[in-house]
Amino acid sequence: MDDRPIGVFDSGFGGLTVAKALIDLLPGEEIVYFGDSARYPYGPRHLDEVRSFSRQITSMLVKRHQVKMVVVGCNTASAAALDLLRFEHDVPLVGVIEPGVRACVAATRNRRVGVIGTVGTVASGAYQRAVYLQRAGVRLHACACPGFVEFVERGETDTEQVHVLSERLLAPVKEAGVDTLLLGCTHYPFLARTIGEVMGRDVVLVSSADETAFEVRAILEETGQVRRSAGKGAHRFVSSGDVGWFREMGSRLLGREVDEVEQWSWA
Ligand code: DGL
Repeated sequence: MDDRPIGVFDSGFGGLTVAKALIDLLPGEEIVYFGDSARYPYGPRHLDEVRSFSRQITSMLVKRHQVKMVVVGCNTASAAALDLLRFEHDVPLVGVIEPGVRACVAATRNRRVGVIGTVGTVASGAYQRAVYLQRAGVRLHACACPGFVEFVERGETDTEQVHVLSERLLAPVKEAGVDTLLLGCTHYPFLARTIGEVMGRDVVLVSSADETAFEVRAILEETGQVRRSAGKGAHRFVSSGDVGWFREMGSRLLGREVDEVEQWSWA
């Protein structure tokens, strides 16, 4: 039994899709969510830089917030840093790439799957590696979608511009005939409606959030780290960006009140 919180981080709001899945599946657990909005987006940055941000954030969550586990709720950071973070910390570290691939492989019927993500994630080859390591036996078509994250961070999840951009960016995965599309960026589930319309009804959209939450639950149970205290766990939100904006957008995206947002500065 372990009453310490679970830490979750992302470059901004995207990891809230993972936090939401955790809150739904594990309502008794306490969560500290960190959004590095002051330094978003991570997608276009060099992976070395994303790795160094991820190390800083993970140390902050472990030392300052005493978390019992860290969920890297960001594909770009998972691609850049997960292996190193696992090596550097004693607490369990969970990324979103392996759970996403598992969910996608379970969903496909024609064994042709697409994954969309940031430039950093797609260029890293992390999804191709995960498919190979899971001996998944699927053909993967990876495609970067620069611009999607910026729409989400501005709160524009259903506009004509997002639709036009989606038509253009998703054309290659559509042409590849995939029957399953993995949203390989934690921001993208907020655009699911538009992406679904563009891909068509026959294509199943998969987000890694639920599968990641299942993995977190399995680890907590295996390691005996489930929270002992009865009642709902508290959720804390910390942002390196504008906390007022985080409160407003966070509440909209999470679908529940984000009351308190603490400011964090990297000075
Ligand atoms: N949400 C992130 C991901 O899953 C990163 C988005 C960004 O900062 O570019 O890759």
